[in-house]
Amino acid sequence: MTKNISVIVGSLRRGSYARKIARQVITYFPNGYEAQIVEIRDLPLYDFDYDDPEVTDKPTPKEYTRFRETIKAADGVLFVTAENNRTIPACLKNAIDIGSKPNIDVAWKNLPAGIISHSVGRMGGYSSQKNLRLALSYFDMPSPGQPEVFLGQSPTLFDDQDRISSERTVEFLRDYIVRLVELVETSAKRTRE
Ligand SMILES: Cc1cc2nc3c(=O)[nH]c(=O)nc-3n(C[C@H](O)[C@H](O)[C@H](O)COP(=O)(O)O)c2cc1C
Repeated sequence: MTKNISVIVGSLRRGSYARKIARQVITYFPNGYEAQIVEIRDLPLYDFDYDDPEVTDKPTPKEYTRFRETIKAADGVLFVTAENNRTIPACLKNAIDIGSKPNIDVAWKNLPAGIISHSVGRMGGYSSQKNLRLALSYFDMPSPGQPEVFLGQSPTLFDDQDRISSERTVEFLRDYIVRLVELVETSAKRTRE
């Protein structure tokens, strides 16, 4: 059966480098895998009232329900994110918060997760990635330990067709996807046992 990977891009910008990276990395998954960007732009800002059974006049937005169902149906998730003010962009934090409720049915729970961060400077979104890992640690999401993927100077990564031009970077990212896929396979086996 085909395995599904939800790819979440931590940027809403039209020309986002994170999105360009995500589009490339999606093509590195092996046969039997389907990786797709799950859009987070239209998720209303997280408000616990929507999930609070005691608040009866604010029903759960359909965008929350759709997003949670998509994540729960996935076999793994891949975050590709920018860095804003030394942490993850608000759109990504919002999506994480939405997936984290209700407590009895957390969409992220135990889901294998890959993380790629980037920045236009040399740090590769280090602080963003560390903050993302901190949030995800709450949900027991296994993630490839090494290598960590920090892509610096992201505007220089692409050729004129938005493909990643450095063979070394492509190999590095392909290897990371192999590791993520191994983790997804192991997790799936564990779930079946
Ligand atoms: C509000 C804001 C805050 C930013 N903060 C950081 C930062 O803390 N570290 C960093 O490396 N770049 C920072 N940047 C620059 C972004 O990394 C850069 O705009 C990048 O292209 C955004 O990613 P994207 O191309 O995927 O949209 C910031 C940009 C904005 C708009």
